Amino acid sequence: MNQVVRKAVVPAAGLGTRFLPATKATPKEMLPVVDKPAIQYVVEEAVAAGLTDLLFITGRSKRPLEDHFDRNFELEASLRRKDDQEKLALVTESTDLARIHYVRQGDPLGLGHAVLTAEDHIGNEPFAVMLGDDLIDPRDPILPAMMEARARFGGSVVCLMEVPLQAISLYGCAAVEGEPVDGLVRVTGLVEKPQPADAPSSYAVIGRYLLDPAVFAILARTEPDRGGEIQLTDALRVLATMSAEEGGGVHGVIFSGRRYDTGDRLSYLQANVVLASERDDLGPDFRDWLRGLVASWS
Ligand code: UTP
Repeated sequence: MNQVVRKAVVPAAGLGTRFLPATKATPKEMLPVVDKPAIQYVVEEAVAAGLTDLLFITGRSKRPLEDHFDRNFELEASLRRKDDQEKLALVTESTDLARIHYVRQGDPLGLGHAVLTAEDHIGNEPFAVMLGDDLIDPRDPILPAMMEARARFGGSVVCLMEVPLQAISLYGCAAVEGEPVDGLVRVTGLVEKPQPADAPSSYAVIGRYLLDPAVFAILARTEPDRGGEIQLTDALRVLATMSAEEGGGVHGVIFSGRRYDTGDRLSYLQANVVLASERDDLGPDFRDWLRGLVASWS
C-alpha cells in the first residue's frame, strides 16, 4: 500500500472533435498554450511531482507528439552555429525532461480503454493518470496532496473540483461521504456525465488520478457504454466498493486552483489569455493591449 508512485500515464489518443478543424491532423494535446504545447505543461507538472517515467497513449496522429519530445538535430545545429543559446535551450528542454514511452491505443475506445493499454508498462504498482488536455496551473499543484492521500489510505485517489450543478453533465461526478476534512473526502460512488437532477453532488472529477493496479482487472471486464466507450468512471465506481485488501477504496482530493480544459475552445482561449498576461516577458505589453481592447467595447 505504501508503494511510491513513480510512473504516469498520459492519455492523448482522443479524437479531439470539439476542436476541429485544428485537430484534424494534430493531436489537441499539441495545440500551443502561449508558446508551449499543452502537453508539455502536463509533463512538467509530472516531473515537478517526481514522476519521471511517462507513458503516452497515442492515437492516429502521434508523430508531432513524438517529435516534440525527441531531439531535432537540424534545428539544434542551426542554433548552435548562430550561438543562440536561449533558443537552443527551448528546443532541448522538452527532450531532457523525462523518460517518455509510447503505446498506441489503436481504436479510441474511451479513457478506460486507454488506461488499460498501459497495463504491461505499469505492472503491479500504483500509477498516476494525467489527461494530456487538462492543464493545471503550475502555481496550483495538486499531485503532492494526492500522493499524500494515497500514502495514508492506499487505494485510488481522484481529483475533485466543485462546479455549478448545471455544468456537471460535462464531467464524471462523485458521490461522497460527509464534508471534506483537510480537503479530503471518501468517494462512495461515481456517475459519468449525469443530468443535474441525477447528480449525487456538484463534485466533478478532473483529469488527475492516482490508481491502484487493481484497476486493470476491473477495466478488462468493464463493458463499453452506449457510445461504445469503456469509461474509467465505471471502473472507479467498482473500486470504490471494494475492500482495501483487494486494492479498493477511492478518496477525493478537492482542487480549488486554476485549471483549463485545453480540448474545449473557450477554456483554451482563457488559458492563453491568463498565462500570457501573467508572463514576465509578454505580460506587460499584452495586458496593455488587452486593456485597450476591452475599453473599446464599452
Ligand atoms: P476527451 O473525452 O476529452 O477526448 O478525453 P476526446 O474524445 O478527444 O474529445 P472530444 O470530445 O472529441 O473533443 C479525455 C482525455 O482522454 C484521452 C484524450 O486524448 C484526452 O486527453 N482519450 C480519450 C484517449 O486517450 N483515448 C480515448 O479513447 C478517449
